[in-house]
Amino acid sequence: MSAQPTPARAASLRTPFTELVGIEYPIVQTGMGWVSGPSLTSATSNAGGLGILASATMTYEELEAAIAKTKSLTDKPFGVNIRADATDAPQRIDLLIREGVKVASFALAPKQELIAKLKDHGVVVIPSIGAAKHAVKVASWGADAVIVQGGEGGGHTGPVATTLLLPSVLDALAEKDIDMPVVAAGGFFDGRGLAAALAYGAQGVAMGTRFLLTSDSAVPDSVKQEYLKRGLNDTVVSVKVDGMPHRVLRTPLVEALESGNSVKALFAAARNANEFKQMTGMRWTSMLKDGLSMKKSGERTWQQVIMAGNTPMLLKAGLVEGDTRAGVLASGQVVGMIEDLPSCDELIQSIMHEAHERLKVLASLG
Ligand SMILES: Cc1cc2nc3c(=O)[nH]c(=O)nc-3n(C[C@H](O)[C@H](O)[C@H](O)COP(=O)(O)O)c2cc1C
Repeated sequence: MSAQPTPARAASLRTPFTELVGIEYPIVQTGMGWVSGPSLTSATSNAGGLGILASATMTYEELEAAIAKTKSLTDKPFGVNIRADATDAPQRIDLLIREGVKVASFALAPKQELIAKLKDHGVVVIPSIGAAKHAVKVASWGADAVIVQGGEGGGHTGPVATTLLLPSVLDALAEKDIDMPVVAAGGFFDGRGLAAALAYGAQGVAMGTRFLLTSDSAVPDSVKQEYLKRGLNDTVVSVKVDGMPHRVLRTPLVEALESGNSVKALFAAARNANEFKQMTGMRWTSMLKDGLSMKKSGERTWQQVIMAGNTPMLLKAGLVEGDTRAGVLASGQVVGMIEDLPSCDELIQSIMHEAHERLKVLASLG
């Protein structure tokens, strides 16, 4: 028998976003705490997308080492996700500039002067946002592009689905004549999703859960198998995990928290919150600021304030140490549509082949 011919590589697809960051395909692997390390990030960038290292769960020294490692694995552009409220955010930003990192991504937008500094040194600034008014605001602060994450998305997430949040952001920017690339996130996993996002007027897609479930992610295989078993109804947005709406897999811990049976969770919370604080250099004030202001307004219980400091350690126990009993596993609803663990290259190629096919069919309708 003759060997199967290798399928041709998908044609590149250029959008203002791919031009801005210098990549071949309009696909971003987002910065996921404990998940987006050098192997996943470099594999995404080598496959023609934009890989982003997650630094919120790294010490400064670990971030330094992760950037060096990623640079040794790829010569393509990649990004780093930074918590704008970390005590050492300015030093981390200096590190990105010194190391020539192409993209700085932020869950919360940093101060205007930090955005200006990054841009002066040629670093592309991409905050993630969950509301149209925030897109307009960060554009006025000088952001180069935004990632818009709809409610389907994993981790901290908002209430509005991508199908509505995305056009609302695009409309708000158009109304103000702001020409800024928008990347859609929350619920994407295949080429149909990319074609749909482009049809809305976005310039690319960003995916978290889909990249967690690749052979290039360092998450233990037993944990990946736990994700693969889950269906579309097996995630929940809980505010009981850390006080902010957090989309996670339904686990016994999450079910206990949701039902108010949380004595064990509270015990683990107090122990792990301190460990996380020492590890990442976060200030207690930063960790608890949001929680305390919500506490004052009567929205958050003390248990939630403590859980806010604890959640990163619970996520680490699952995503790094493979102990799924810890019970906090961030995940998008899209987990219910994912059944395999391709490499980043296989994933991006299949998405691009399918997207080109869908776009051709759509063009032929007209
Ligand atoms: C395991 C996991 C960890 C995450 N950690 C972070 C994080 O540290 N910082 C952040 O800005 N977003 C984080 N997110 C959100 C993702 O960056 C991304 O916006 C989201 O996963 C997109 O939705 P999707 O899962 O449907 O693709 C996380 C998501 C997951 C699934």
